[in-house]
Amino acid sequence: MNSPDLDRSTVETAYARWAPIYDAVCGPVMVQGRRAAAKAARAVGGKILEVGVGTGLSFDDYDATAEITGIDLCAPMLDKAREKMASGRYPYVKNVQLMDAHRMDFADAAFDCVVAQFVITLVANPEQVLSECHRVVKPGGRIILVNHLYSEKGVAAAVERWAARRTRNLGLRPEFPFARLQAWATTNKDANLVERRKVAPFGIYTLVCFERAVPAAA
Ligand SMILES: C[S@@+](CC[C@H](N)C(=O)[O-])C[C@H]1O[C@@H](n2cnc3c(N)ncnc32)[C@H](O)[C@@H]1O
Repeated sequence: MNSPDLDRSTVETAYARWAPIYDAVCGPVMVQGRRAAAKAARAVGGKILEVGVGTGLSFDDYDATAEITGIDLCAPMLDKAREKMASGRYPYVKNVQLMDAHRMDFADAAFDCVVAQFVITLVANPEQVLSECHRVVKPGGRIILVNHLYSEKGVAAAVERWAARRTRNLGLRPEFPFARLQAWATTNKDANLVERRKVAPFGIYTLVCFERAVPAAA
């Protein structure tokens, strides 16, 4: 199904409202998706960029084998992430910054792995964000996404279509199809889809992984 992407101000407003209650509401229900994505990122290791890091709920899922940088568009969400950093429990989280994933300030190939947990479906231009993630990840590095994606058929798809317009102002997008992610990779010769799998609970989240190709030796 075709529906317009969310715009930046809707997302900023929605997540500024979410910030005070985000951990309580979205912590438990999304924890398994977050853990699966972080586990896949830890397998890559090195410098990891968390795009849309939010309140830093994923910090618990990493350890000193990685170095985490986070960015987010929403200052109140980042304030919560900084509170977690100030606890001293996450020395491997080096920095979180206010930054739009559509135009990142990082150099090309700055990270070993880029992770976006519950983010790609709600950015204003998902293809542009994927291309930015691809730019900042090293050749051989990975982009790991976890999200609820559109069910495409059956009752679940009907419910998602029904919910789509009603949840936009909450910064949610239940009707985003996998086909868009796949189409982005198809048009980018250096991006290879290496994994797509359902994640618990009940397979409602999907983990998608792209690898940036290593240029062939001349
Ligand atoms: C559903 S929350 C997910 C937060 C966190 N990744 C988690 O798993 O709890 C989505 C986050 O993406 C951020 N976001 C949305 N669009 C963004 C953009 N263009 N650039 C950076 N962050 C963005 C929002 O501000 C919000 O904090």
